Amino acid sequence: MPASPLSPAEIAALHQCATEAAQNSYSPYSHFRVGAAILLHPDDRQQGAMVAGTNVENASYRLTCCAEQAAIAAAVALYGPAIRIRAVAVANLNNAACMPCGACRQTILEFAAPGTPVFYPGANGETVITTLAELLPAAFRLTAD
Ligand code: THU
Repeated sequence: MPASPLSPAEIAALHQCATEAAQNSYSPYSHFRVGAAILLHPDDRQQGAMVAGTNVENASYRLTCCAEQAAIAAAVALYGPAIRIRAVAVANLNNAACMPCGACRQTILEFAAPGTPVFYPGANGETVITTLAELLPAAFRLTAD
């Protein structure tokens, strides 16, 4: 997948999409309202769509779905199994640092190249930009024999 840099407008739209999704968070247990937005590489089903997700918690806590995983599931449902992720943004409404959890990193990798940019809120309120490879340097990969 050719790497084309994101424009400032695309980055701003991704942040807005993630923040808006966080308004819909179902988080009665943690009260941590997270939103995620993924920007897709164009393919024959869509022209670079942006898809959002939010965290959906459960009384049986471990069944909680993270915002990033919700966004990816929605994108697959909308555009099919061939989607590829061009960028990811995470936001929350708690003014907290919020990097993707380990499980989400592995889930993102399923549909994204290691160099994919990931934006998340850092400890001082600033937006951190990194890559998936930096977040998950030793990812699990299924190697068939
Ligand atoms: N959460 C996410 O949505 N994404 C992450 O990457 C980390 C955590 C959610 C899960 C739970 O609803 C809340 O944040 C507190 O852990």
